[in-house]
Amino acid sequence: MTATPILESRLLNRSFGAVVAAKDINIAIHAGEVVGVIGSNGAGKTTFINMVTGYLPPSSGEILFNGTSILGKAPRQITRMGMSRSFQVAQLFPGLTVLDNMLVALAVAESARPSFLRSLRTDERIAKAEAALAEFGVLAFRDQPVTAVPQGTRKLVDIAMALIASPSMLLLDEPTSGVAIEEKFPLMDSVMAVVRRHGVTVLFVEHDMEIVSRYVSRILAFYAGEVIADGPPARVLNDPKVRELVVGHGPRRKAS
Ligand SMILES: Nc1ncnc2c1ncn2[C@@H]1O[C@H](COP(=O)(O)OP(=O)(O)O)[C@@H](O)[C@H]1O
Ligand SMILES: [Mg+2]
Repeated sequence: MTATPILESRLLNRSFGAVVAAKDINIAIHAGEVVGVIGSNGAGKTTFINMVTGYLPPSSGEILFNGTSILGKAPRQITRMGMSRSFQVAQLFPGLTVLDNMLVALAVAESARPSFLRSLRTDERIAKAEAALAEFGVLAFRDQPVTAVPQGTRKLVDIAMALIASPSMLLLDEPTSGVAIEEKFPLMDSVMAVVRRHGVTVLFVEHDMEIVSRYVSRILAFYAGEVIADGPPARVLNDPKVRELVVGHGPRRKAS
């Protein structure tokens, strides 16, 4: 007996004019997996995440979340079904403090209309938002404008906002991008500790092979819109095609 995958894509395709950003993508992810996605810039990683989270309609194909089709559903509906995401560039409300960003995310998760911040500031919501910030170790930044906090903190706040909807699956698009190399492992340590505690299934895009290998049980390698390898890190990273087309084609790592 095989369990229904938490997320499945079948023959997923997407083109932008002549550019094929997704070609016949068949992926099945099971609850509890931690999956890394690698691939050089333009390989189709973000396109895949955008399609499965409802931000981009596929040209053709099917997407199932816990066995239910989510094609045509709005991002908010998909979030409420239990799939949350973060963005390559953190999508935060620049005029607001860290805490207020969390409160807005919480209101959206609760499907309350975040029209007046004042009405969002209930003791219960504040306590929940503070607990989430504390879990990620960023509670000290609570009252700072989100634009004033360090990049790594901003990334964590963005992920905390995605997690406050209590998703069963989290998709993180380059959670360590723009973060100094020495902060990448601590950042991922925090993220992985929290998601493990919550039992969340995770898929994340990462260019640094050392980081991917440290945290995931499975890697999907994208190239020109196709998944060219899918399996345990040791196998995928030693795959001749992956070595030729993917590894070493990401952003350069600064020599330390
Ligand atoms: N909105 C868009 N309009 C036109 N082309 C796009 C759009 N989004 C992505 N693309 C193209 O699709 C391909 C895959 O992009 P993307 O999924 O962002 O790659 P990755 O995240 O792996 O760097 C690229 O060639 C990119 O230029
Ligand atoms: Mg991308």
